[in-house]
Amino acid sequence: MSVLSLKGGVGKTSMTLGLAGAAHARGLRTLVIDLDPQANATVVLDPSHVEFTANDVLADGRSGILAQAIVPSGWGEGISLVASERALEHRAVPEGDGNVRLRITMQGLKDYDLVLLDTPPALGELTRNALTASDLALVVTEPSLFALQGAQQALEAIDVVRAYNLRLQVAGIAVNRVRPTSSEHRYRMAELALAYGDLLLQPPLPDRAVIQQSAGACTPIQQWRSPPGREVSKILDGYLDRVLGIALEKGPLRAMPNSAT
Ligand SMILES: Nc1ncnc2c1ncn2[C@@H]1O[C@H](COP(=O)(O)OP(=O)(O)O)[C@@H](O)[C@H]1O
Ligand SMILES: [Mg+2]
Repeated sequence: MSVLSLKGGVGKTSMTLGLAGAAHARGLRTLVIDLDPQANATVVLDPSHVEFTANDVLADGRSGILAQAIVPSGWGEGISLVASERALEHRAVPEGDGNVRLRITMQGLKDYDLVLLDTPPALGELTRNALTASDLALVVTEPSLFALQGAQQALEAIDVVRAYNLRLQVAGIAVNRVRPTSSEHRYRMAELALAYGDLLLQPPLPDRAVIQQSAGACTPIQQWRSPPGREVSKILDGYLDRVLGIALEKGPLRAMPNSAT
């Protein structure tokens, strides 16, 4: 699943890591592929050793080569990472290659129940490569003036890729950093609900300092047992349920451990 948004700072990386932590807590084998040159997810996942990055993988482009760039994260057994680096910013994926380059490098990847792709804060080439390699796309937005427009543009970018990646489904729109006491936020939430209805993940993710604290400490939020830590973890767990539900219902994914099938 790709996690995307029109702009930066809305919570893509926090969402990616929050879902990775939720999946890990359930014992799912999880891989995070960091496609953002800012490499924030890489830093928080705190790998002890990185030899090859997503930049090397895309430069190489050979079928299945991504597997060689997978390293264990510092979060423990069961969460792995393909790291990013600044140089990814200048990675021009060759013309005519379409957006399938990343997907080709992921061929044969099988040891994971969930693969999450964190994307750069734009809907450009890297994000299109991520979407082309994905079965699901999760849009993240903030309850701001441009939320509606930003979500719309992200959905349009998904639609463009769906023309040739028929497996791609919209997992939903997650609204992040909501402060229910803000009348502006309540207004924007209502606006989003009117436009997108069931596509919105419920409840929205509130603005909570524990999200920054857990990232700063390079730990999963699920380890933070304070009331805000538990509140955020519970919401993320609900999001994971929804994502896995869509994957199982519509997608080609195999049944998860503990599932009835
Ligand atoms: N719900 C939230 N509450 C408080 N801080 C948040 C929340 N979501 C994200 N942040 C903080 O906002 C900043 C940007 O979030 P990040 O996930 O890095 O966004 P993006 O990946 O879209 O650029 C980070 O410092 C992060 O810790
Ligand atoms: Mg980010």
